[in-house]
Amino acid sequence: MAKFARQAWYMIGWAQELGDGVLARTLLGVPVVVFRDGHGVPHAIHDRCPHRFAPLSTGVRKDDRIMCRYHGLTFDGSGACVENPLGGAVPGVCRVGAYPVAEQDRILWIWMGDPERADPSRIARFPWIDDPALRCVFGYTQVNAHYELLTDNLMDLTHARFLHPGFGGDLYSPRNSVEIDGDSVVSKYIVENIDNPEFPENAWSAHGRKVDLWDDIRWHAPATLSLSSGVVLTGRPRNEGCEIPSAHVITPETADRSHYFWGSALPKDSPLSNGDFTQVLSQAFDTEDKPMIEDVHRRMAGEDFWDLKPLLLRTDNAAVRVRRILHAMIEQEAAGHA
Ligand code: FES
Ligand SMILES: [Fe+2]
Repeated sequence: MAKFARQAWYMIGWAQELGDGVLARTLLGVPVVVFRDGHGVPHAIHDRCPHRFAPLSTGVRKDDRIMCRYHGLTFDGSGACVENPLGGAVPGVCRVGAYPVAEQDRILWIWMGDPERADPSRIARFPWIDDPALRCVFGYTQVNAHYELLTDNLMDLTHARFLHPGFGGDLYSPRNSVEIDGDSVVSKYIVENIDNPEFPENAWSAHGRKVDLWDDIRWHAPATLSLSSGVVLTGRPRNEGCEIPSAHVITPETADRSHYFWGSALPKDSPLSNGDFTQVLSQAFDTEDKPMIEDVHRRMAGEDFWDLKPLLLRTDNAAVRVRRILHAMIEQEAAGHA
């Protein structure tokens, strides 16, 4: 069985994906179904009926409950079977697993470790998502690759020069520094005195003047990344330019497939429409990053990253630190120390 950090919060999806319906998603190899109770509070239970193993997510939602479509056993958000329409008592053992869920910043989070250790205050925040001065776009992509390969991609943004021509291509040749900040790894990129690339020029025009770009990306365990990108006229302070914050959150579906959630925001008065902004981001993540990461995963052919003895460059510093911290977490859990 794949090793994942279990004492951690993972993103299930965007709150808007659930709405008032039922959301089925496999997380860390476990099929989960999410639905809201009458108070709008989301619940996540194991998406497998204990009777003949039908997916409960294909069942019928009845108020606070879900009725299995096969023989009608009905479960509430705690995972307890509360009705047996075929008659007879509901056996006490008739229940499915339930997982703590938190909802904040328009994101649904799940804790699949020891429930008593689930502490929502440990979840990374994205306060800009509800900033009235900004407008956000959201996306979701499934990637056929191990989730750490997506984190590697995000922690080493030097790949933008080669993989993302719209973000600057050859112009994007940044200086990089890496910091450890508490439990986080922060990697900072700065490019100075260049022509404004196609993006962000379409979101914030420099009117032909030279610009400085920044990208500060912060990793929170296990795979939640917060990115502040921005553009400003060369030599001017950042607050005179345009900051574009974004969230990149990855949840393993299995060891070979990952959920990649992304969201980003522009100032409300930016000339770039939400549709065009989504197109820019989707072009980068879906048609440039995703195929490369899937190729890498295939080439690794199930081998462990370190066993393949990767050549390490200076620019791998942040991604390697992240891998080490994450693996220490997983090993501590396995040893019962976490
Ligand atoms: S499989 Fe669900 S009630 Fe039979
Ligand atoms: Fe990328």
